[in-house]
Amino acid sequence: MALLELKNLHVALEDGTEIVKGVDLAVDPGEIHALMGPNGSGKSSLAYALMGHPAYEITEGEALFDGRDLIALGADERAQLGLFLAFQYPHAIPGVTVTSFLRSALNSLRKARAGGDEDPVPISEFRKDMLGAMERLKIPRELAQRYLNDGFSGGEKKRVEILQMAMLRPRIAVLDETDSGLDIDALKIVAKGVKELVGPETGALVITHYQRILNHVKPDFVHVFVDGRIVQEGGPELAHTLEADGYEAFTPEPVGGGEA
Ligand SMILES: Nc1ncnc2c1ncn2[C@@H]1O[C@H](COP(=O)(O)OP(=O)(O)O)[C@@H](O)[C@H]1O
Ligand SMILES: [Mg+2]
Repeated sequence: MALLELKNLHVALEDGTEIVKGVDLAVDPGEIHALMGPNGSGKSSLAYALMGHPAYEITEGEALFDGRDLIALGADERAQLGLFLAFQYPHAIPGVTVTSFLRSALNSLRKARAGGDEDPVPISEFRKDMLGAMERLKIPRELAQRYLNDGFSGGEKKRVEILQMAMLRPRIAVLDETDSGLDIDALKIVAKGVKELVGPETGALVITHYQRILNHVKPDFVHVFVDGRIVQEGGPELAHTLEADGYEAFTPEPVGGGEA
């Protein structure tokens, strides 16, 4: 069984509208999966449901992480197991600096991994790790002392998401359109962050509308996601087909009376 395994997963909104309509997906460490789909197809809803966002209910099917039922776990427990989501729209946390946010996130993971005993990262080790990661990701040092995402540009928010990911070292990283709106330099940094992380310990699910990021992070598997379902799967070449032909070929004809 794969580390992250989704079986016939269905997700509905609070009003009962079904958005994700039966997804099967298996992601293991060492693998990069791309989930590509048009806007409104349900990509973010799938990501939110995996992280335990209360507005996205898993109504049918299974989501297993290391064989454990994710649905039974809270968002914090999912993170402690090693599931990480880089959000499409990261929230600002005024009053909490990037440094203190990262340190407390890291310490809560360490505590969980130590079986519930406090195991705070030594300050000097933390600083060294953080500054090293910031340097690799070309994040200006002054950002560390600013309030998380408060007044950050789009590119800065995405870089800080990648910084979090680099420091927390998840086992499965889900990146929800971390590439959208980025200039080429920021895009390369995001790609570098993913490539550095993926290896024997970590796998990634890169959710994207565009093929662009996949020129910099080569996926092992591409899943085309339309209207809540995976409609085609293949290797990296599928991303190029999509880039050339668009999603139209995969978009179901609207039936009589359906929206255009
Ligand atoms: N919290 C929400 N409340 C109402 N509608 C939502 C909510 N989240 C998603 N939707 C709707 O679900 C559909 C899929 O959205 P989303 O998962 O964001 O797609 P994608 O990320 O592929 O663009 C859209 O029609 C969107 O408007
Ligand atoms: Mg989205």
